[in-house]
Amino acid sequence: MAGRIPDQFIDELLARTDITDVVASRISLKKTGQNYSALCPFHNEKSPSFSLNPNKQFYYCFGCGAGGNAISFVMEHDHLDFVDAIEALAKDAGMEVPREQGAPDRYEQNAELLKRLSESSQFYQQQLTQHPDKKKATDYLSKDRGLSGQIAKVFGLGYAPPGWDNLLKKVGTRAESQEQLLLGGMLIEKKDQPGHYYDRFRDRIIFPIRDSRGRVIAFGGRAFGDEKPKYLNSPETPVFQKSQELYGLFEAKQNTPILDQIIVVEGYMDVIVLAQHGITNAVATLGTSVNSQHIRKLFKLVSKVVLCFDGDKAGRSAAIRGLEASLPVMQDEKQVRFLFLPEGEDPDSLVRKEGKDAFNLRLDDASSLSHVLFEHARNLVTLGDEEGEAQFARNAMGMIQQIPKELTFRSVLIRQLSEQSGIDSETLGNTATPKVKYTTPNSPVQGHSASDPNSYLGHDDDSYSHLANQADYDYYPDQGHPNEHGYDAPPYYDSNKKSAFKKGGKFTKYQKNDVVFSPAPSSLSRVKQASLCLLLHPHIAQNISLPDPLLHQADDELQTFCRIWRFFYKYPEKNAGHLLGELTDPSTLSSIYALLNHNDAATKQKITNALQEVLDMTTALEKNLGLNSSIARLKSRGNESIKDNDSKQELRNLMNLIRQKKS
Ligand code: UTP
Ligand code: MN
Repeated sequence: MAGRIPDQFIDELLARTDITDVVASRISLKKTGQNYSALCPFHNEKSPSFSLNPNKQFYYCFGCGAGGNAISFVMEHDHLDFVDAIEALAKDAGMEVPREQGAPDRYEQNAELLKRLSESSQFYQQQLTQHPDKKKATDYLSKDRGLSGQIAKVFGLGYAPPGWDNLLKKVGTRAESQEQLLLGGMLIEKKDQPGHYYDRFRDRIIFPIRDSRGRVIAFGGRAFGDEKPKYLNSPETPVFQKSQELYGLFEAKQNTPILDQIIVVEGYMDVIVLAQHGITNAVATLGTSVNSQHIRKLFKLVSKVVLCFDGDKAGRSAAIRGLEASLPVMQDEKQVRFLFLPEGEDPDSLVRKEGKDAFNLRLDDASSLSHVLFEHARNLVTLGDEEGEAQFARNAMGMIQQIPKELTFRSVLIRQLSEQSGIDSETLGNTATPKVKYTTPNSPVQGHSASDPNSYLGHDDDSYSHLANQADYDYYPDQGHPNEHGYDAPPYYDSNKKSAFKKGGKFTKYQKNDVVFSPAPSSLSRVKQASLCLLLHPHIAQNISLPDPLLHQADDELQTFCRIWRFFYKYPEKNAGHLLGELTDPSTLSSIYALLNHNDAATKQKITNALQEVLDMTTALEKNLGLNSSIARLKSRGNESIKDNDSKQELRNLMNLIRQKKS
């Protein structure tokens, strides 16, 4: 299914489709005058507020505000993305979906790989029921973890028996399939025997990770005992980017009758045990903190997201990261809430202890985003009385300013802040507050050291994680102005504005002529500075994604940069020493030594905005490469991009356009 679906086809499909049939085949409708009414399928209700207008081919719910045409109905009702909804409607209408010529999509390119991953998953599932030592695995699941066979099946749990070549022998029978398994992270090449492989997953319980359409794209494997690592996960592969996926999303869509809220938890087991207790709408991040992409993805499906955290200090700082990830992607009529669990509990242990109803009560009681925001702004205050009050207002305002300008929600928060601080809304609105890290310097957020093997969250703990990819930059379409360096500035960087913050990101008393927050001049090129940042702060690599064209530039400096990035992206727990140990190419080696020996290294070691510096550089380069044109991207990637990157708003605009064309 390559290429974009031509607009005319969508018009024709809508012309041939009667929304009444589409809706009536999914929910029961009652004729009321010219229109139909029904119990709304998108929220819980006792009396019907869903109305369908056959003349206008439009539905609207007076209860929850859901509304749209046949396509949006199928998308929302069947939990499908745009392309799949078109496919479904076309099938009913007996039409074949034509495609404009275009590059094959990610899944088409990787069809073979996906097949091998699916076979691997089947293999592990079989082992759970057929392997001579299966009892070890089934006992672990049922006795130690309390899982029913049924729930194990829903999540496709499996067993990777001990041994070096079980999967290899079964699924990797041909050279081509071995290649695919290697690409998919299922096999590892033997160090001393190139071209020879062994199984990555051995003697573990296997959790297949599915994408939101149910395709197996990766695996997590849990050790039976205290072996390290507790969970071994697939590496990043062409079909698996862990920061973008949510474990259990497919299952949640499949098994939740009315999916209007999604709970984000930390672990595979949490998702599964909650589901076994009837809470089927939980998903887990894959060993990273929740980021803006996650929230945006969830907002396409539901209007309420509850982020669930441990009650301890680490949980609190993870919540702050969740808060920061949410702010720039907030939308009116969408909610993010925060659930803090009692210390020492995770959703798995708690729901087993308390049961579903008690857990649901906790969910109902989850803290609002504004509560967490104001509380955090308060916690950051270091000064007494009036000055503290000003600090509080500035802290809060700094966060509020990350919410898109046009949202009512933003005005509401400013008003609340005005009430709390006694500063009028207008003054608050005019506060120039640069966007900096809002975490306190010594908070556990930064305590996750990248070299600590137990700290698998460490690599994603930068509060800038919501700026980690291009999609996030697109959120600020009109804010990048070239600065004196000739690069486009990051969205919040305004070289004309004086900052109220000192370089280390510490809050200082607001003074008109305070230090400007700008990088010190350096003899190193921008790319080299970025390389140095990566070498000294390897964990930031996880928050950077480099597009292919950038990775394939011939420029030497850039190649070194990409080489460094690839290494740390792949091995989040390693540092510059490891990298040097792995490198064999003398020219790369010497350029890295030169960087580490440069005078700037000492300064770069201390900076707290390393990630930002690197992102500035890559953004500027990308702009130069013309990658920023979203139109070009849409064209080259076909409708797939609607699912991946576009906001719901854009989809709505598209819908409106389609509707206008029709009438
Ligand atoms: P936790 O350590 O909280 O484990 O990791 P858990 O989910 O409670 O696991 P059980 O109950 O002991 O089995 C939460 C998540 O972090 C990732 C996994 O995604 C895990 O589900 N993780 C954890 C890893 O990737 N590797 C690890 O070694 C540990
Ligand atoms: Mn657990």
